Amino acid sequence: MTRLYDLPDSLKDDALTLLGSGVSRQTYVYTPNEKTTVIKLEVSEGWHQNTKEWHVWNAVKRLEGKYKDLKDWFAPCVRISDLGRWLLMGRTYPVSLHELRKELPKVPDVLTDLKVGNWGRLPSGRIVCHDYGTCLAIEHGLYNYRLRPAKWWEGEG
Ligand SMILES: Nc1ncnc2c1ncn2[C@@H]1O[C@H](COP(=O)(O)OP(=O)(O)O)[C@@H](O)[C@H]1O
Ligand SMILES: [Mg+2]
Repeated sequence: MTRLYDLPDSLKDDALTLLGSGVSRQTYVYTPNEKTTVIKLEVSEGWHQNTKEWHVWNAVKRLEGKYKDLKDWFAPCVRISDLGRWLLMGRTYPVSLHELRKELPKVPDVLTDLKVGNWGRLPSGRIVCHDYGTCLAIEHGLYNYRLRPAKWWEGEG
């Protein structure tokens, strides 16, 4: 259940357009920048995926040298609320199983959830993961990833 008083002031008076929901979050168009930004609301207790994504994004975006390309696999995080109730993220657009198989035959092994709905295309044209709240980038170490053949799958949730 979305509690509107937890939203940023600029959104309280707007009708929110739901783009999708997953195991713990609902994603809405962020009306001030609707083509480029979404707002993700953490609606289930105990997951803290917004906070995790924020940490992962901040870790990968700082990588330099031969590891600096890792960030190109992640949808960028823009801003987070206290306690991670909401997160602003770059908006992606849906991609098909066919596109993923053709364009991304291999992905970093730290991105473990290869369900089609967790990936999308940024306005730049690049396909990225937009649901990395359970990825292993930090647990496995940012310098330990390998590109592995991707087993893409379609499913609910
Ligand atoms: N950055 C994004 N841009 C566009 N849609 C998104 C974005 N992130 C998530 N979504 C949509 O919202 C749904 C739920 O978000 P997701 O990150 O998968 O939440 P959960 O971690 O709860 O599974 C996704 O399946 C997708 O449809
Ligand atoms: Mg998901």
